[in-house]
Amino acid sequence: MNIVILTGAGISAESGLGTFRDVDGLWTKYDLEEVATPEGFARNPALVHEFYNARRKNCREAAPNAAHSALARLEQEYGGAVRIVTQNVDNLHERAGSRAVRHMHGELSRAICAACMHRWDAPEVMAPEDPCPACGVAATRPDVVWFGEFPYFMDEIYAELAGCDLFVSIGTSGNVYPAAGFVEAAAGAGAETLELNLEPSFNASAFMERRQGPAAKIVPEWVEQVIAGQ
Ligand code: OAD
Repeated sequence: MNIVILTGAGISAESGLGTFRDVDGLWTKYDLEEVATPEGFARNPALVHEFYNARRKNCREAAPNAAHSALARLEQEYGGAVRIVTQNVDNLHERAGSRAVRHMHGELSRAICAACMHRWDAPEVMAPEDPCPACGVAATRPDVVWFGEFPYFMDEIYAELAGCDLFVSIGTSGNVYPAAGFVEAAAGAGAETLELNLEPSFNASAFMERRQGPAAKIVPEWVEQVIAGQ
């Protein structure tokens, strides 16, 4: 049995990283248009770098929680393929030990040059005047996907959804496409679907089964059940 797991900000909430749309979420404190769009970056690159520098620092100071660790355990101990598709730009899945992780919205730990598309490991602090190490142009930005841009790995992700037997969505509000449509893609290809979230998501009704609770509790419980039942 192949499992594809979609994760969102909710899986990292108990590690101390803020979600976006909860009451104290990032989009209640920052204007999404200003810090997470190419137009916002063109208007004020210093502000956008400041936002991502702060998130990079938060991420460095955070540690994976029991939900990240349980998914790493599942990948190691489960007989079938376990693939994680994350909307998160943090690296907590990797730090917990997961290997098959696709960052569809990019990664805080990487930088990209908008002039030549060269990629490299992001320094702790980025600034608009930083030159690209390959072409020297000061067009460097975090290697994250902003609203209005195409998420990464879409061909690979849809192929994996088409071939999976179980699709599990963890800690995501189901507001942002294309990720919010993965449940329909998987179900359309015959997979079972399960949502693990603190509260029913925007598209909860699209899932065959739903379990509610904090990820650090309900993800390890689910993983235990899958491993015991194989
Ligand atoms: P959201 O902030 O939209 O949703 C977080 C979800 O996690 C909500 O449904 C919460 O109920 C749930 N949640 C909160 N704490 C939880 C916990 N401890 N355990 C389990 N669930 C919990 O975040 P995302 O869905 O990840 O994109 O947002 C999707 C995309 O929108 C992000 O990747 C980002 C954002 O704008 C870009 O920046 C392009």
